Amino acid sequence: MDAIQIYGGNCLHGQVRIQGSKNAVLPILAAALLIDGVCEIENCPAISDVYHMLRLMESLCCTIDRNGHTVRVDAAGVSRCDMPPDSVGVMRSSIMLLGALLARTGSVSMQYPGGCVIGSRPIDLHLEGLRKMGVVIREREDGFDAETKGLTGAVHRLPIVSVGATENLVLAAVLANGNTVIENAAKEPEITALCDFLIKAGAKIEGVGTKRLCIRGVEKLHEVSYKVPADRIVAGTYVAACLCCGGEVFLKGAPCMQMKAVSAAAASMGAGIEESKEGIAVTCIERRVMPPGLITACYPGFPTDLQSAFLAAMTLADGEGVLEETIFENRFRIVPQLRQMGARIDCQKNKVCVSGVRTLCGTTLRAEELRGGAALVIAGCAAQGRSVVKNKHFIERGYEDICHDLCSLGARCKKE
Ligand code: EPZ
Repeated sequence: MDAIQIYGGNCLHGQVRIQGSKNAVLPILAAALLIDGVCEIENCPAISDVYHMLRLMESLCCTIDRNGHTVRVDAAGVSRCDMPPDSVGVMRSSIMLLGALLARTGSVSMQYPGGCVIGSRPIDLHLEGLRKMGVVIREREDGFDAETKGLTGAVHRLPIVSVGATENLVLAAVLANGNTVIENAAKEPEITALCDFLIKAGAKIEGVGTKRLCIRGVEKLHEVSYKVPADRIVAGTYVAACLCCGGEVFLKGAPCMQMKAVSAAAASMGAGIEESKEGIAVTCIERRVMPPGLITACYPGFPTDLQSAFLAAMTLADGEGVLEETIFENRFRIVPQLRQMGARIDCQKNKVCVSGVRTLCGTTLRAEELRGGAALVIAGCAAQGRSVVKNKHFIERGYEDICHDLCSLGARCKKE
């Protein structure tokens, strides 16, 4: 069955190694297309989004070899420029290949990646920026054909902060003729990782980690090996699991420096947080209290990808609390299911007001997307009795093995 069975109520104790970052490795795999040769990517998480991305790259005539968490990409043979619709449909992140493929082959045909339950996920900023760099884009009903005689540098002033648009424009700029400036660029650590990979391969990028990126196009990039950083969202999910269940956990390899807003939110709910270069120790002995107003924001603010997990934790905290979502228009999908477990949540437009309860009751739940699904699993770990979270395939998009990880921390859950 495509489900996870949980017997909740245990406090969490133990340690777990944090996997490589999904949102860092996907653009880095796209960047490997820019290199006429071999790249070796270490600490690559074994998740379905990576599997689909690698299949898509093979369909573009890349040679892929996987050995455990190391992936070897040979992009010397990249030629085909139409992405198989079934792969694009499965994988929104295929849009990330656009900039790199245009830089490499000069033409791409693909269908629109489409939205998902958390939002319409438009790509207008991607297409607008590429047009400014000399790309002619003919939109069709279900997709578009993009052509360029050669990418040229441009100045982009992004009207809103977009991780994907920033990544696509960086990938298009590194081999373009001339200089590119991206103002109001996203500053997520995953963009810093992408720039680090590209600089290691010979790209000229300044302003890494700031909202203004300056890229000087170069002739060619060279072969490179790179280790993917740990996944701050997976680590933050397990911080929230400890808040939900109580206990003491050690998240080995958690990227503390990238998790300041997450650690601050956990500490505001009564958790003890101890950061070291080995990882993060989280202690939740006392009952949790509500955070003084949690609002999602672009990095370095509190990440939207942990909004659902911290909402689950807030349902079991003392008092009243408010959580506001400012990035996506429909990211409170798990509220009805948390209510089914006994949570008291009042939903307004992009805010929820939570009144903490003493316990949640296990029940049958249904994941509808990646991070909401993970939040339902940790709510099940805290609930009394048995829960079943259906559609575990959504969770496997971004978590190597959430059951194994949570069981390492003393939870009782297993794949069905
Ligand atoms: C990336 O998505 C992440 N995905 C998301 O993580 C994450 O939630 C998001 O950034 C925000 O941090 C990957 O990195 C693979 P955006 P992305 O472009 O790039 C609007 C997860 O769970 N927008 O930063 O698609 C958009 O609608 C996933 O791992 C436009 O209007 O997000 C949204 O409101 C979920 N036009 C806002 O910008 C555009 O052309 C931010 O989106 C592009 C985006």
